[in-house]
Amino acid sequence: MAPDRLVVIADPIDPSAADALRAGPCRVVDASQAPADLVRHLGEAWGLIVRSRTKVTAEMIARAPKLKLVARAGVGVDNIDLAAAGSRGIAVVNAPAAAATSVAELTVALYLLLVRGLWGSIVSTRAGRWERGAHGHELAGRTVGFVGYGRIAREVARRIVPFGARPIAYDPFVARTGDSTELVALDALLASSDIVSLHAALTAENHHLIDAGAFARLRPGAYLVNVARGALVDEAALLAALRSGRLAGAALDVFETEPPTSRELLEDPRVVPTPHVGALTEEGQRRAGAEIVGEVLKALRGEPLATSVAPAGGSR
Ligand code: MLT
Repeated sequence: MAPDRLVVIADPIDPSAADALRAGPCRVVDASQAPADLVRHLGEAWGLIVRSRTKVTAEMIARAPKLKLVARAGVGVDNIDLAAAGSRGIAVVNAPAAAATSVAELTVALYLLLVRGLWGSIVSTRAGRWERGAHGHELAGRTVGFVGYGRIAREVARRIVPFGARPIAYDPFVARTGDSTELVALDALLASSDIVSLHAALTAENHHLIDAGAFARLRPGAYLVNVARGALVDEAALLAALRSGRLAGAALDVFETEPPTSRELLEDPRVVPTPHVGALTEEGQRRAGAEIVGEVLKALRGEPLATSVAPAGGSR
């Protein structure tokens, strides 16, 4: 035990998790409300707890000579320089399962909003119009193509099969799905999906995976749902695909820059934007906080870590 080790909470975590940490064998500084506190305490930090706001860059790591553990209260670790952490022997842990249900439920909600054209109905009804012409489709019978078939996509598939939708998936890291989802090549997925649903972890290799070329290979009138990372999609190409009619609509919980800077994209009537809320249910955040603090406490006690992150890619 070394109660002098300092754990800095850089981004807000569930209060019950912060309390559990304070009861552990460490000192705790909560810098989540004042980033200046993070800068002040970085030199002493043994552990760092982040969500997605704090960017754990090589430069930040260099200013933290005592740092041994970075704990990400969530799934994506694209805000952490894994190579820089690895070269210093700093362990990185995350909470990959904590919010899978939350993100999966949001994803299904977005499918229904898109295919039924509900977004347009809500906006026009609120504006005082009463537009009751037939529009939209059923989710039943639609092919949903998952790009990335990890925990979240599997949870989505489990929920949409009872709706009568047909799930297919492209994932270079998965050899067999173990469920009814059929694995296909990316081109086949783009050509046959009514909804292309993004669930890949962002890596250097899949940056702008969905670019102008990919949009050109889409089934005309398809929808795009992105609840993973904004930079998987080339936003200029997305806007062009919407305007050309190739893409019938897009639901975006994530953007290349957050908050997003493209008013054109946000204001396009075919775009359903949400502010990266997929994981932000009370339940999801409670689980993420508890899991990540559990890992920090294990590391403080010298016990093996359950969710050490390897510096490779994968699905969410
Ligand atoms: C995650 O990676 O855990 C989610 O996208 C939520 C987040 O980044 O904060």
